[in-house]
Formats: sequence, C-alpha cells, structure tokens
Amino acid sequence: MNITRTLDSDRVCVLLFDRPNSSANVFDRATLEELDAHLSALESEAGLKGIILASAKPRIFIAGADLNAFAKGVDERVLGEIVDLGHRVFTRLSRLSVPSVAAINGVCLGGGFELALACDWRVASTERSTKIGLPETQLGILPAWGGSVRLPALIGLPAALGMILTGKQLGSTQALKIGIVDQVAHPEYLLDTARRCLTRGKRPTKSRPLVNRAPFSTLVAAKARRAVRAKTGGHYPAPFKAIEVCLSALGQPLEKALAQEKSAFLALVRTPESRNLVNVFFLQERVKKRQIPGTEDASDPIKCTAVVGAGVMGAGIAQWISARGMPVKLVDIKVEILGRGLHIIEKIYRGAVKRHVFTMAEATAGFDRITPVHTNVPLADVDLIVEAAVEKLDLKQAIFKELETHVRPDTVLATNTSALSVDAIADGLDHPERVVGIHFFNPVHRMQLVEVVHGLRTSPLALSKALQFVKSLGKLPVIVKDSPGFLVNRILLPYMIEAVSLFREGSPIVEVDQLMVDFGMPMGPLRLADEVGLDVAQHVARGFVGRLSYPMPLTDVLEKMIAKGWLGKKSGRGFYLHASENAHPKPNAEANAMRDVSSTRAFDAATRLDRMVLLMVNEAARCMAEGVVDEAEDVDFAMIFGTGWAPFRGGPLRYADSLGATEVVKRLDVLVREVAPHFSPCERLREMARDQRKFYPENQSSSLHENT
Ligand code: NAI
Repeated sequence: MNITRTLDSDRVCVLLFDRPNSSANVFDRATLEELDAHLSALESEAGLKGIILASAKPRIFIAGADLNAFAKGVDERVLGEIVDLGHRVFTRLSRLSVPSVAAINGVCLGGGFELALACDWRVASTERSTKIGLPETQLGILPAWGGSVRLPALIGLPAALGMILTGKQLGSTQALKIGIVDQVAHPEYLLDTARRCLTRGKRPTKSRPLVNRAPFSTLVAAKARRAVRAKTGGHYPAPFKAIEVCLSALGQPLEKALAQEKSAFLALVRTPESRNLVNVFFLQERVKKRQIPGTEDASDPIKCTAVVGAGVMGAGIAQWISARGMPVKLVDIKVEILGRGLHIIEKIYRGAVKRHVFTMAEATAGFDRITPVHTNVPLADVDLIVEAAVEKLDLKQAIFKELETHVRPDTVLATNTSALSVDAIADGLDHPERVVGIHFFNPVHRMQLVEVVHGLRTSPLALSKALQFVKSLGKLPVIVKDSPGFLVNRILLPYMIEAVSLFREGSPIVEVDQLMVDFGMPMGPLRLADEVGLDVAQHVARGFVGRLSYPMPLTDVLEKMIAKGWLGKKSGRGFYLHASENAHPKPNAEANAMRDVSSTRAFDAATRLDRMVLLMVNEAARCMAEGVVDEAEDVDFAMIFGTGWAPFRGGPLRYADSLGATEVVKRLDVLVREVAPHFSPCERLREMARDQRKFYPENQSSSLHENT
C-alpha cells in the first residue's frame, strides 16, 4: 500500500503517501490506481470537508514518475495508458466537490508537482529539502500529467515556460513568490496550515490573464523559442514541443489540451535524444550506488578533514566541504596566502547567498567551519586530507612525507593532482596504501564530477573511504585507474591539442569552436583553452603527451602566445579578447600571426569535426582497453558531467555505438591517410569493428549520426 486514508473528526481526509521499502514516493501505475480508488471512496463520503495530500517521508513529497516506466522495453501503448490514467485520476481530484490541498514537505517534482497542481491549494514547508519543479524537459520529454496545461493557467505562460524549459527546482520562498504555492509554513505547522487553507473552499476560477491571450501569448512563445535555440543550438526537441503544447493549451477545453500533451509526450519519448537523456539520468543514479566490494561495512564516515594548499582549488574544495557541514582545516605556507584563500571562499559563499542557495546565517556558519592554519598543528582528529598544493612532484612527495608523521594510521591522504601519478606521489611513504587521488574539477562549487583515483598500492579501504567522502559531499564520483590525465583530461586533451592544430593550419578560431558547439559541446575547445589558462593548458598538455605510450603531436602555438603574455581569460587575451568578466569574448585577430603559413591546410567541416570528435572516441576506447575505468558507462558519465559532452548524444561511447565501430575505424583510417598518423584507430576499435561489437551490447538504438 502506497497511500493511507484517514478521516479525522473534522471530516477532513488525509491521503498520506508512503511507498513501502523505499526512501522515496514515486508515481507508477499501481499508485495511480490506488489514488483513484481512494478518490472513488471519497466521492461518496458524506459530509466530507476537504482532502489533504501529504507524505510520510521526511524529505520527499513525491519525487516524480517512476522512470523505469519510461526506460527501454515499455511499448507505446502501455505508455499511452499510463498517461491517460494520470490525466483521468488528477482531473478527478481537481473536480471533487470538496477542496483539496497538497501539503508539500520535501522534493515535489514532475508527477508529484502535477498532482499538487490538480489540487485547489498548495502549501509548502520551509524545510531546505522542499524543492518544487517540472524537470521533464531535461529528460527529453515534457510534463504529461497535466503540468503543461495547468501550470501556464495558474501562473501565466512566461513564468510557466521559465520553469518547464529549464527544469529548475524552486524552494518554498521562491515558489510562493512565483505563485505555485499559496502559503509556506514551518514543517511542524504544515498540516495545520493546509487545514486552514481548506476553509477557503474550492479555488475560484479566475479570468485568463493578459499574457495568456493572443497576441501576447504568441509573442511570449516566439521569444521562448528564440531563447531555447540560442541556448541549446536546437539539439533538443523537447523544449520546442513544450512551448507548442503550453501555448495551444491556453483557452482550450481541458480534455483537448490534455490530448495534445499526451501526443507530444509520446512523440518525444521515442526520440534518441530522450532515450539518451534518460540514460544519463540512470548513469547518475548508478554512481550514487557505487561501492567498493568487500568494504561495505568497513568504513566509518569521514567527519573531520584538512585541505593542504589554499589556492584556487584548495579554497574551492574547503568551501565545498564546509558548506556540507564538515569542519575543515585549511593549510598553507603563509598567512597572506591563507587570507587570499579565505577571500576566494567568502566570494563563493556570497554568490551562493545571492542565488538563494544559502541564507546569510548558513553561509556564515559554513565559513566558520574553516580553520586557517599556517603552522604545524595537530592533525590527529583528521580523517581525510586533500592535498591541493602546486603541481610539482617533489613538493607533493615532501608534503605527504611530512603529513604521514602528523596523522593517525587510518587517515586517508588524498591528492587533487590533475596530471601527476598518484603512485609516484605515494613513493617513499611508510603507508602508500592510504594514498588516493580525489580529483575535483574547477570551479569546485559548480562541477559535479570528481575522479577518485586508485594507484597500484591504494587499499580498497582507502578507496572506499574516498568514494564515500565524495558521495557525502553530494558530488558524483567516477573511479579511475592512476594513468596519464586519468579519464576526463585524457580524452579532452587530445581534442584540445587537435583544435589548436586546426587553428595553426588556418581554420578560423570561431569556426573551430562553432563546429563543436554545433555538435553539442557547451563551449568550443579554443574558448575552453582560454578559460583554463593557456599556460596551464600547455603545462598539462606537455606532461600528458610525455606520459603517453604513442606519439601525439604538440604545436608551438601556445608557447608563442604565452611568450607574448597571452594566458587566456585571466590575462584578457588568448584565442579571444576578454574585455571583462562577463563580456562576450571576440576572436583575437592578432593570434593569426601565431600560425605557421607553411602548414596551411584546408579540410571540409565534416573532416575537421571528425578530427576533434573521433580523436576523443579513439582515446575513450583506449581507456576502456587499458582498464582506466571498468565500464563504458563510466566514460560517458564522466565526460557528460566533467565536460558537458553533448548529453543528448549519450557520451562519446554511445555516440561511437550510434556510428558503429566499423564506421569509426573507417573514418579514422581516412584521417590517418589524409591528415596524420596519430588518428590510427586503437586495437580495441579494430577488434570491435571486426566482430561487429558495441560498447553497450544491448544498445541497438540512438542513431543520431545522420544529424552531424
Ligand atoms: P594554486 O597555485 O592556485 O595553489 C597552490 C597553493 O599551494 C598555493 O596557495 C601555495 O601557497 C600552496 N602551497 C605550496 N606549497 C605548499 C606547502 N608545502 N604546504 C601547503 N601549501 C602549499 O594551484 P591550484 O590551481 O589551486 O592547483 C592545486 C592542485 O590542484 C594542483 O595539483 C593542480 O594540478 C590541481 N588541479 C588544478 C585545477 C585547476 O583548474 N586549477 C583543476 C584540478 C586540479
């Protein structure tokens, strides 16, 4: 039983959602049918005053529809029936003769919010876990249990599209402001507040607001379409369909609007984009459950931490740890450097307060959990240390040697190195088995992915503690083997190096970047090099190429640019001119002088795209062959969450599957003949082509390559 029904002495009925053996409430066919049965009973309940819908879960109202229902293997007829059932049950709820109210405490997303929208009133708790939204377009579909119809009617088309097209999740204060809830209350008073709401009776029907009438609504929709196209390059069909459905629902009879919603949903659910986006969701769920075999009961949670190095990364890591409620010692060599680090941290907290992520009190409490340290202090209470000092092997080795003398035998020593070997850093220690890599990405507070790196000597327990720690920070871990560039940089660097080669041969900066943006990357590779810093990119690329077992040509372009003091965004000039922090950068025409005229070559767009994309695919295949990660899912997940790799394509290996290994090998061989030997397909790809194998054996779908 998912829902219990109780009738109190005031003749108010409470429908309490509590999915057995689960921390979350979700909607599936059985729950909808159960709700339907309760509504049947309530329709004939004499003297009923109203209904409250609430959840027994501490942090979840209803998390949404059970996504397994949309995963592979569910046929269209069955999906159509589930949509119809949701429409029928929610409409039945909305048409009850007595008022209804959703008492929302915790996550209220997708189908959960659509249920709440079918109620007359909504009250939300001030609890931090309360998050209300419609994330369906992020899964390549649209709200299809009435959300695309009821939300625009409730708050007007512009605000509704603002929620539906972004999938953003609102806390109770923002929800009240925008009008999706009628009242907020402390969780303790939520049910009382809901009861009081019922005394207002059924929600009065209001006349349609001006923004929901033509010509305003048509203008709003046109503006939304333009914004979506600009933001997504038109790669995602779902937002366009959502705009169409929301617009045409205005002023239509409910049944007709719901029918349009259903047919749009069924059309979207079939698209490869939606299949890939749903897969991305499952990839996320998969890593949350990841454990190191044999250590399930062994590791105590990390309670106290230290970060060594208060530079960009150290400060970012300390801020994130402190924000998740853990005390952290921040260690650096000088007081003034610590001051600079604390300033970075304060800035991140200030930004988070501005974006309503934290209240001022929460930010202050977080900041206070950081203890700056520049002298030797006892570290016996520390469970895990993240070293984020400068990227020099001998310095890191010296730091670890010193740390080993100050910490407990079970303290985990982690390095945030991006390019050095974790094994080399552990050399010379008495207990190298406690050394692990925890590689955060920059900026720490924005990037969800963290690579957890195991060296040859890392113990399963140290790895497990590092993994649990990363999960407890709310980050998404991928476990990788200690190898050059680990996983993400290993795949990304050849691509960035190739983009610089294309530039050197004469391809305009904007053209190189636009090719990749059109492919679906969040920004082009040359712009990315500017963001990273050309000096950092060059330093990392040189170290990386030197550690590879095959030749990867590196041009002198970056060196020439660095010699002129062009370091990318931080110096205001690189491949682009960066006038200010937020100004749109313009290509740096003077950079063209860095080209080598004797190497000028012209290739068509498709070849240039293959040079960048298939190089990543080849490298990803090598990572699989070398056991850098265990499964294809790890590669795709890490590239999507670490670099924003075109999520609608499902990641480089799903993309490779969509082309087929034979095609990938064929195109790489062409590049070997026409461009350079470093495109030579790796042995794994050749084998797969020979045996007609895929990275995802079950995956015979997702053919997007005709779009490229
Ligand atoms: P940074 O140069 O901004 O900061 C390094 C800090 O280490 C400085 O504050 C320095 O004073 C401190 N330091 C040097 N010797 C020390 C010692 N003996 N004890 C304590 N502190 C000491 O460098 P950044 O960019 O923060 O990088 C730190 C580490 O993170 C490097 O290993 C880097 O490869 C890695 N990393 C950097 C990323 C980035 O985008 N900047 C991304 C991911 C990893």
